[in-house]
Amino acid sequence: MTQPLSGRTCAVTGGGGLIGSFLVDDLLALEARVVVVDDFSKGRRENLAHHGKAVETREVDLEIAGTAADALEGCDVVFHLASRAFGVGHGAGRHWEILQHNEAITNNVLDALARLRPSHVLVASSSCVHRDDGPDTVGELPLFDGEPEIANWGYGWAKRFLEQKAAIMARETGIACTIVRPFNIYGERYAWQGTSSQAIPMLVKKAMDGEDPVVMWGSGEQRRTYLHAADCAAIMRRLVETAWHDGPVNIGMAETVTVRELVETICRVAGLSPELIADTSKPEGRFVKSNDPARLLQAVPGFVPTVSLEEGIGRMAEWYRREFA
Ligand SMILES: NC(=O)c1ccc[n+]([C@@H]2O[C@H](COP(=O)([O-])OP(=O)(O)OC[C@H]3O[C@@H](n4cnc5c(N)ncnc54)[C@H](O)[C@@H]3O)[C@@H](O)[C@H]2O)c1
Repeated sequence: MTQPLSGRTCAVTGGGGLIGSFLVDDLLALEARVVVVDDFSKGRRENLAHHGKAVETREVDLEIAGTAADALEGCDVVFHLASRAFGVGHGAGRHWEILQHNEAITNNVLDALARLRPSHVLVASSSCVHRDDGPDTVGELPLFDGEPEIANWGYGWAKRFLEQKAAIMARETGIACTIVRPFNIYGERYAWQGTSSQAIPMLVKKAMDGEDPVVMWGSGEQRRTYLHAADCAAIMRRLVETAWHDGPVNIGMAETVTVRELVETICRVAGLSPELIADTSKPEGRFVKSNDPARLLQAVPGFVPTVSLEEGIGRMAEWYRREFA
């Protein structure tokens, strides 16, 4: 089954953010009407500026009870991406706070959706719902088996609760619901968060600031899979177009690179050759985190990323020059 989005009114909560703003590009290209619901705490108006008045923005803090229903009024499809999300450096000692903030957003948004009854909702969960001691290459495992990723403990539980609450709300209201679990997503619309930033912007900044040596946390041999936000957004849009509802979908690829290889790519693209040093006194998280893309490829047959890591890092080098030069 497909449901064309052209002419439909689509809300993107968090639409000023990294993935959300690429999703807005994608939806507008399909001639959907787009409403961005964002408090612009981390998202940026510049990420949407190229669309001029084609995007309606409703600036609200979804943590405040009662705001979500007005903000989502009249929207037939809702992509719910708004969340308080940061890099792992932010989590330590703040898990309770992160859980509380995200739970408030979840409760307000799902409560509004249950009343407004849009036809389809996509909910952005996270690969952090998966446990650390699971397989290196993770499929869509059951949620409540062990703790979620410990470095993202509060965020991981918030995403587990979001998934479960959305599933119950959707079943009881008859709203079609798609749940996605992105892995490591990056892109040039990232809003710098200082020491709370995510890995790629952090490493791009270290290298391009001219640090020598560049110090990598952990062994530098830990492996991750990275996908550009434009590709992540295209998958989200495609899953709603095809009305996917056959279980959560991990958004990420199987191929991994080590942190060392990532920094080497950054240095090659930027024309730098610093010494790379591993600081094994710092945490490195799980050693390998990779996605088994079987379900993703079932849901979006033939998917291949359009932005290679090399091209994406090139875009991040531009991001650095814009942001810090
Ligand atoms: N980027 C990744 O690697 C990644 C990985 C897994 C899951 N996710 C999830 O995907 C979604 C989008 O991620 P992203 O990387 O684009 O994040 P982002 O931080 O760039 O975007 C989140 C957006 O939500 C907005 N927001 C935050 N709190 C809000 C509130 N109370 N009211 C209204 N708006 C609010 C922010 O201003 C921002 O525009 C998030 O739910 C995130 O948890 C992202």
